[in-house]
Amino acid sequence: MTSSPLRLAVIIGSVREGRFGPVVANWFADQARLHGAFEIDLVDLAEYDLPHALPAVSPRMEPNPVRPGNGMELARRLTAADAFVVVTPDINRSFPASLKTAIDWHYTQWDRKTIGFVGYGGNTGGLLAIEDLRAVFNELNAHTVRDNVAFPRYYLHFAPDGSLSDPAEHEDSANRMLDQLHWWATALAAARGATLAA
Ligand SMILES: Cc1cc2nc3c(=O)[nH]c(=O)nc-3n(C[C@H](O)[C@H](O)[C@H](O)COP(=O)(O)O)c2cc1C
Repeated sequence: MTSSPLRLAVIIGSVREGRFGPVVANWFADQARLHGAFEIDLVDLAEYDLPHALPAVSPRMEPNPVRPGNGMELARRLTAADAFVVVTPDINRSFPASLKTAIDWHYTQWDRKTIGFVGYGGNTGGLLAIEDLRAVFNELNAHTVRDNVAFPRYYLHFAPDGSLSDPAEHEDSANRMLDQLHWWATALAAARGATLAA
């Protein structure tokens, strides 16, 4: 067992030009630092160039394929994480393709880890993306926590400087989710260690 702090990777799922995602992700990363239970790594998928064409061999045969470009660095950052928070908009009632590509290029990185969500968007506020992501991560043997943070019509909540006009409710949601992530991350890190030692 190690006494080093648990690591939480906060993943910015949208990569489009002019995206709002980094504002939401930076707000959440600040909440996570204030919460204090995790070391935070803010992972921006826009910095990585994983192709939409997935590897020729299935992950069950080759769980850690060579990723092109700087993709190996992304794999290393995801491997190092004990827990994840995925920051996602709703795009046509689901999550963006950039996020699906990044998820599908990885396998062991999600295995027996815990995942939370921060959603934002128009009327549906990321909630449809989050429900679809739960099914995807279930297939990858990850545990998604019950609570999430959602910003329907995010432009009504965020000031131009990235702060929230009425923060209390969203801060409470973030803290509840972080508490759940910490419980699961602690349990799963110990269990993964026990598995490795067996
Ligand atoms: C193609 C497209 C589809 C969208 N579909 C939805 C949707 O189904 N539900 C919703 O609430 N918002 C929807 N939106 C609004 C986005 O969630 C919103 O523009 C958000 O800012 C996108 O995230 P980004 O700015 O970080 O890229 C859609 C936007 C686009 C461009």
